[in-house]
Amino acid sequence: MPALAVIGAQWGDEAKGKIVHFLARKAEVCVRFNGGPNAGHTVVDEHGEVSLHQIPAGALHPQCLGILAHGMVLDLWALEEELAALGRQGRPQPKLLISDRAHLIFPWHRQREEQEGLAQRLGTTKKGIGPAYADRAARRGLRVMDLSRPDHLAKRLCAEGASSILPDLSRLREKFAPFLGDARAVLAEALQAGKAVVFEGAQGTLLDVDLGTYPYVTSSHTTVHGIPWGTGVWPTLAVVLGVAKAYTTRVGAGPLPTEDLGPAGQRLREVGREYGATTGRPRRCGWLDLVALRYAHTVNSFTHLALTKLDVLSGFPELKVAVAYRLAGKRWETFPPFAEDLFQAEPVYETLPGWHKEITGIREFSHLPKEAQQYIRFVEEGLGVPVALVGTGSRAEDVIVRAELLGYT
Ligand code: IMP
Repeated sequence: MPALAVIGAQWGDEAKGKIVHFLARKAEVCVRFNGGPNAGHTVVDEHGEVSLHQIPAGALHPQCLGILAHGMVLDLWALEEELAALGRQGRPQPKLLISDRAHLIFPWHRQREEQEGLAQRLGTTKKGIGPAYADRAARRGLRVMDLSRPDHLAKRLCAEGASSILPDLSRLREKFAPFLGDARAVLAEALQAGKAVVFEGAQGTLLDVDLGTYPYVTSSHTTVHGIPWGTGVWPTLAVVLGVAKAYTTRVGAGPLPTEDLGPAGQRLREVGREYGATTGRPRRCGWLDLVALRYAHTVNSFTHLALTKLDVLSGFPELKVAVAYRLAGKRWETFPPFAEDLFQAEPVYETLPGWHKEITGIREFSHLPKEAQQYIRFVEEGLGVPVALVGTGSRAEDVIVRAELLGYT
């Protein structure tokens, strides 16, 4: 089967975990290519609810190999804990392959994040992500492959005043040894053999270090462009699935034109349980933003969209959707490239009728109230991308499939 990519179309937290888990039921490989433990991909299945931070969500399926590619920055201590948490839920240990080339996160990266005040300034997740990527770019990072170079490792740890963690690192090296390897080569072979491969984006398009709302972004490439960057392969992607929530959320600082600070935003937060899976922080909430989504489409060339958490919108008498911005007295149909402009952008809304019926767990488009169908069609037409999947609840099976996605659905 040709490869499929799942990409966040907003500011992250679009429920990609659920969608990836759903699509990977028949996949042979699932690849995380960017970010690290800043991500929180939540899956609810027969074992209960789990938030994955570094393990690809597809790897929860026993047949699926989870690749942690070199575009990620890895915290091995956190990975150990993540595996232990899966064990405590009675889940089988996932099949994993960790890229030798991936850079490692160390305690000093978190300390630097703290010292530089990044959490206060940008609302970062305090996982050491930015400083680890900075070390990588400055060519002083330590990679997974360096774990087998104890002399080199000892020298670097000494330079960082962290020699005491050397024995623990040796232990982790032993523990993870069976999972380490040339992930790029294995992935290239899998693609060549036509295996079913799902690429699992972390964070969202508007948090991309170059294409997002800089500087209020993460430090990696969160878009479809992150796939070749973070894996070293150039896959033929028959499906690029953008994942967007039926409304908008953001955690951390930065512009959010459709943010609603009144009762509507409050209701979205409570009904949608909009609290960070990684940090527990309340998410900022607001209406769907088609200007931002159209921009995400121009960046990623989505072939399809998954519209998630539609059930959260039930009970609103009417629903607003931003179709343009008003900025400096003019109407803007496109997404301004500068965060400073976005802070000033006022959304121009269209109002659609809401619905009262509870839609949680509905699996047929025709069973949705006509207003919910109209909402989906409005998004589809406004974006020019077919909505292939609709999320109607947190459980794995709460999905409406409107279009087959190769053999994955
Ligand atoms: P960092 O990735 O920890 O450096 O944080 C940079 C920005 O990206 C902050 O605004 C974070 O809240 C945001 N961010 C990072 N990872 C995620 C995620 O998985 N979901 C949503 N926001 C995220």
